[in-house]
Amino acid sequence: MGAAPILIIGETGQLGRELVRLGGDDVRGCGPILDLANADSVSRVLARHSFGAIINAAAYTAVDRAEGEPIDAWAANALGPAILASHAAKRDVPLLHVSTDYVFSGDQGDCYRETDPVRPLGVYGASKEGGEQAVRAGAPRHAIVRTAWLASAHGNNFVTTMLRLAETRDTVRVVGDQHGSPTSATDLANALLAMARRMMAEPETPSGTWHFVNSGEASWDAYARHIFAESRLRGGPFADVVSIPTSEYPTPARRPANSRLATALTMETWGLQTRPWQVAIAEIVATLVTPSPVQSAPNRETIS
Ligand SMILES: NC(=O)c1ccc[n+]([C@@H]2O[C@H](COP(=O)([O-])OP(=O)(O)OC[C@H]3O[C@@H](n4cnc5c(N)ncnc54)[C@H](OP(=O)(O)O)[C@@H]3O)[C@@H](O)[C@H]2O)c1
Repeated sequence: MGAAPILIIGETGQLGRELVRLGGDDVRGCGPILDLANADSVSRVLARHSFGAIINAAAYTAVDRAEGEPIDAWAANALGPAILASHAAKRDVPLLHVSTDYVFSGDQGDCYRETDPVRPLGVYGASKEGGEQAVRAGAPRHAIVRTAWLASAHGNNFVTTMLRLAETRDTVRVVGDQHGSPTSATDLANALLAMARRMMAEPETPSGTWHFVNSGEASWDAYARHIFAESRLRGGPFADVVSIPTSEYPTPARRPANSRLATALTMETWGLQTRPWQVAIAEIVATLVTPSPVQSAPNRETIS
């Protein structure tokens, strides 16, 4: 490749891994040693690389733990992006920054569009909103890409959790009154890489905020049923899903009841397409499932 590579921040995460895997020679990871919230550390690491764009896939993503660790969450999710934005500005390269559906409160009936007002319910969402503001203010060339309910064949996510629980339980209790947009990290990575390449090739590309999720929508319980159906088809673990309301599964962080994201603007502006979430998630299940399931004694577990 002739152009400078795209630098990936957070290459050990589920999205970062996919960016590195799919980006090939076009991308470069900057190593897991980067402490995003430490300006000196970021400067030292970035000084070692030449790059034509930055994709920030790193974040403090422990939604519940963030309620008790707001300083850590804000450091990684807001201060870190501010530091990256200043480097992107200094080098005149675009910064693509990944954000979340949890910047929204969830009390709107429709899918959320990019222009809808944000009102995070918890520390994680608030710190991610802080990151969005820092990127808008600090990086003249930026794309903030909000995504949701991310899953991949690696790391801790809803798919890997459900399959792990089904190894030892016949029944799982799953929240049925939260609705969102399940999304494959593979599909998001492909979209981000396409956006980064275009921003590098066409420096006049307007900056802004976009939504990228797989198409369709789901509640957590419907999502779980789909995972188990796909797993069962392939001889993998499965369980019965009992739907419960959020009130029966209290968590430290409140979550939006509706965080479905509208993607029309992204598809139109960037010429991207997005697959139905059922297809994308089935691909992940197929990667994870090996045909040796043993269903053990009945037990009950609650998850959302
Ligand atoms: N997961 C979801 O359901 C979801 C939903 C909506 C939006 N998002 C957003 O999507 C993006 C990717 O999420 P993900 O699920 O891929 O995250 P993830 O798997 O939890 O990975 C997070 C990455 O960030 C790195 N990181 C965390 N704190 C750091 C720090 N202080 N300095 C440097 N690196 C740090 C981690 O490094 P270590 O491995 O070294 O800790 C890891 O590489 C994030 O912006 C997240 O907010 C995720």
